[in-house]
Amino acid sequence: MRHLIDILELSTAEIDGLIAKADDIIANPGQYAHKCDGKILATLFFEPSTRTRLSFESAMLRLGGQVLGFSEAASSSAAKGESVADTARTVSCYSDIIAMRHPKEGAPLVASMHATVPVINAGDGGHNHPTQTLTDLLTIHREKGRLNDLTVGFCGDLKFGRTVHSLISALSRYTGIKIVLVAPEELKLPSYVRQNVLEKNNIPYTQTTDLESVMPELDILYMTRVQRERFFNEEDYLRLKDSYILTPEKLESAKKDLCILHPLPRVNEISVAVDSDPRACYFKQVDCGRYIRMALIMKLLEVE
Ligand code: NCD
Repeated sequence: MRHLIDILELSTAEIDGLIAKADDIIANPGQYAHKCDGKILATLFFEPSTRTRLSFESAMLRLGGQVLGFSEAASSSAAKGESVADTARTVSCYSDIIAMRHPKEGAPLVASMHATVPVINAGDGGHNHPTQTLTDLLTIHREKGRLNDLTVGFCGDLKFGRTVHSLISALSRYTGIKIVLVAPEELKLPSYVRQNVLEKNNIPYTQTTDLESVMPELDILYMTRVQRERFFNEEDYLRLKDSYILTPEKLESAKKDLCILHPLPRVNEISVAVDSDPRACYFKQVDCGRYIRMALIMKLLEVE
C-alpha cells in the first residue's frame, strides 16, 4: 500500500506517468467514468479549503466513486480531543482512500502510519502540499511541453508557503532548472529547503526582494499569498501582506511566453487586470488539479 505524504516519494518516472494519465483523462474523460465504481474517498480537512477538497471530491465522483468527510476540525471528534492516529484508524473502516489537510506539520504522516488505506497529504501546515505540486507540474508541462530547462521565479511568502516547498523539491530533480526567489526579508525560503534541496542538488538560485528586476529572466512566475494563518501577530501580516502585487505594468518586461501560476486563493497579490493576459495560467491550473488527482487516486488504488 502506498501513501503520498511528500512529493519525493514519487519518482520522476511516476510523475511523468501521472502527467500522461491526466492528459489522457482530459482527452478521453468518458473512458474513466467508472474506474472507481464502488470506491469511497474520505476528505478529512482540519483547515479551510476550496480547490483542494472539492477537486479531490470532484475527481472521485468523476471516476464513479463516492465521497464522505468533513471540512472543518470543529465538526469532527478532533474537537473532543481525538488524536490524528485514532481518526485515521476509524476513517480507514469507512473508506478506501483518505485525503487529509491539517494545520500541524507531519499530521498526514502520522495518519499514514495508523491508517489501513492510502493517505494523501492535502497540505500540512507550512510544510508540504504534494498534490498541488502535481497540479503545478501538469500545468507547466501542458503550457511549456517540458519540465526541464526552465527559470522559475517564486514570489511572495516563501517561508510559510507549503506549495513552494513541495514544488521546489520536485523541480530539483529535473535538469536545467534555475530558481529565482523573490520575497521580503521576513518571508524568505527556509534555510532547510535551501540547504537540503537547492544546495544539495546543485540547483542554481538567486534571492532578491525586487520582482521587477528579475522579471525578464523568468519562464514561470509562481505567485503566492501571504499565509496570514501562520503568522504569530496580525501586525506583521498587515505590514507584509501587500509586499508584491502583480500588475499589467510589471509584466511589460516579461517574456512573451511567460507562464504565471498561483495555487490560489489569491488575495491582493495578482491584480484582476492580469487575468485577461494570455500568460495568466492560474485558472487553467485549477482545472489541471482535478485531472491529476483523478490520475493519483487511480494509481494509489491500483486501478487500471
Ligand atoms: C494553497 C494551500 O492551501 O497551501 N492552496 C491550495 O491548496 N490551492 C495555497 C494557499 O492557501 O495560499
